[in-house]
Amino acid sequence: MPKRNSLNSWKLRHIIRGTASWVPFLSAWRRRHARTGGTNSARYCYTVWLRHLVNLSRHGFQIKGARVGELGPGDSIGTGLAALLSGAQSYIGLDVVPFSLRHDLESIFDELVRLYSNKEPIPDDHEFPGVRPKLASYEFPDHLIDRSEFSNRINQIKTEIRRGIGSGNTVTYLAPWTSIRAIRPHSLDLIFSQSVLEYALPLEGVYTAMATWLKPEGYSSDAIDFSAMYLSPYWNGHWAYSDWEWRLVRGQREFFLNREPLSTHLACVEKAGFEILAIDKEQNASGLRDGELSPRFRKMVIEDQETKGAMIVLRRKRDAS
Ligand SMILES: C[S@@+](CC[C@H](N)C(=O)[O-])C[C@H]1O[C@@H](n2cnc3c(N)ncnc32)[C@H](O)[C@@H]1O
Repeated sequence: MPKRNSLNSWKLRHIIRGTASWVPFLSAWRRRHARTGGTNSARYCYTVWLRHLVNLSRHGFQIKGARVGELGPGDSIGTGLAALLSGAQSYIGLDVVPFSLRHDLESIFDELVRLYSNKEPIPDDHEFPGVRPKLASYEFPDHLIDRSEFSNRINQIKTEIRRGIGSGNTVTYLAPWTSIRAIRPHSLDLIFSQSVLEYALPLEGVYTAMATWLKPEGYSSDAIDFSAMYLSPYWNGHWAYSDWEWRLVRGQREFFLNREPLSTHLACVEKAGFEILAIDKEQNASGLRDGELSPRFRKMVIEDQETKGAMIVLRRKRDAS
């Protein structure tokens, strides 16, 4: 861990990298090689989806015949394909960058089929220590999976992948999505996200869109990471950058941490018309101290300052507008 008096030197590296993103050929190279880190692995997609499913089942959600949406699938829509293999009727992935178009979906899908067919246990925290939610058991959740028409479903999805995503009614991918009209109001049973809402902007608009797309009493399941990621040696170091430093660090990147703490998310959740069914917080009292954060973030309540991650399960209120 660097000494605290080297605060400005750790920022400088990221400020230089962000500023370099304004150089056209560096920016073009970065765009071509950008990866979001995870969903190009079938095992990662399998663990993420089954963790959401097991966690949601505690609140009455059933996958059979569900229409599912995902915000920010990233490198591939494999997590959505895993949802379809567990019994969802349809899936739509919405991203701001079309990362998934670069990947070989068919091989990810084949591996997912193998994992489901063998009823492989959910890859646990030894294999994926950073993935939320954490589960009490990582056994294959056979009782939650709808196996009816399993081979027909496999053929249908495979045909759509081969003909091109969007060629049928089962799998849709929209990237970039730019409007709340991307999805018909009240048409989804579930919308989920994995490490996405910490980037979403404008945050209130995104929660409003999610609530609008859901049927009354539809579910949202979201893993949110409030940490600085690679932008600081301290987990809370992103809150130490001043606003102008942050603009330089962001540079030309298409998406970037919104730096909003838990309480801002919860205010948006309330405003959008969601009921909170569960919040599982990961607290961390280490990192930079209050006085070392930039003035804007020194005002955060202690709970925000110490929340490094959260898993939230929401239900759209029946009477939400
Ligand atoms: C850290 S990646 C996570 C990707 C994937 N969910 C995973 O678990 O690896 C964040 C993703 O969120 C996407 N993203 C950022 N803002 C978004 C928004 N407003 N709507 C949809 N996707 C968004 C990014 O393009 C990126 O694909």
